[in-house]
Amino acid sequence: MRQEDSQTTNQDDQSIDLDGSISIAEVSAEDIDEAALGVRGIPLDKIERGKKLIVDLYLPRYSRKDGKIVVHRILKAGKPLRAGEFNFLRNYGFDVVYVPIGQMPQFLDEEARKTRKALNNPLATTDAKAEMLRDNATMVVEQAMTDPRLGDNIQIGRELVTAVTDFIDDTPDAIQSLVDILTIDYSLLSHSVNVCLIIVALGYFLGLTKDQITSIGLGGLFHDVGKRNLPEAILKKPSRLEEDEWALMRNHPTEGFQMLRESGRLPAESLKMVYQHHENIDGTGYPRGLTGEQIATQSQLIRIIDAYDAITSERVYKSASTPSEAIRIISHEMYGQFNELLLQSFVKFLGRIGGKKPMKLRPRRHP
Ligand SMILES: [Fe+2]
Ligand SMILES: [Fe+2]
Repeated sequence: MRQEDSQTTNQDDQSIDLDGSISIAEVSAEDIDEAALGVRGIPLDKIERGKKLIVDLYLPRYSRKDGKIVVHRILKAGKPLRAGEFNFLRNYGFDVVYVPIGQMPQFLDEEARKTRKALNNPLATTDAKAEMLRDNATMVVEQAMTDPRLGDNIQIGRELVTAVTDFIDDTPDAIQSLVDILTIDYSLLSHSVNVCLIIVALGYFLGLTKDQITSIGLGGLFHDVGKRNLPEAILKKPSRLEEDEWALMRNHPTEGFQMLRESGRLPAESLKMVYQHHENIDGTGYPRGLTGEQIATQSQLIRIIDAYDAITSERVYKSASTPSEAIRIISHEMYGQFNELLLQSFVKFLGRIGGKKPMKLRPRRHP
């Protein structure tokens, strides 16, 4: 955070007074390099009006000095965002406000608390609850992808997965709702959330214990964390990766495993999933080329779901396949890579709940 730009437009932080000389409305969320500015964008809707904030709020603007985009604080933690100010921001076109990355764990904790409360609300629809869990999961993964304090995020991830399992326990049709609201356009975040939600739902279908389901859910949520240091150019490359790029890509299970192991908070079963989620039964996978029973069952399971989600997602270079097309590709074109028995169970599970549904899509904030 640049100190000289981290000041508010008025003296006391109490109200938002947008100075006419600041071309504040011209900065769009897509132009903001959150990592470089040390902030994380959150939907304005997430801020409760009139309630004391637990984090500082920032808005972007162009620096007077050099015209670069900077952020400046509009409200300090402990002060409320009043309804009039909220509406002012909304009318100005600010759908996103910014929180310092270092304060995100507090924000996510608070969101988790609100979600738990909403899950107990008998008037909220099952789909709305499922969407809330999905959005929370997205924020947790986003934080894990950038925050060096991975341990705190794993703890928040655990609470989130527990909230998902409680939701399934308490709500008829919860599994159907969770699968219905999966996102079809691919991003590292939505993919991680999809894999987590599908594997938790599948865990129930397979009759696993709650502890096992929590472990595989956590493994699903964090399985691609090792990609967080990969350059965007590799992550989003529409064409085939060059040999050196591919070498970096192949390293993500090992890198993720090492990062998460150091944090000391992830169960061993989940850690194995992170390390082995690209290993194939026939030995053609990576990083170690393990075969058959050398690969843990939960890793064999995530291998199927990881492939399924990638195939049924829309990428720059391909459209999304339907669930049945995906199963055909996994069972025939990729024959031999997966555990056949687990694959059959997954096909039965999809037969029951139907797979990802493009028509339920909503616009998403993340690229
Ligand atoms: Fe991966
Ligand atoms: Fe993945």
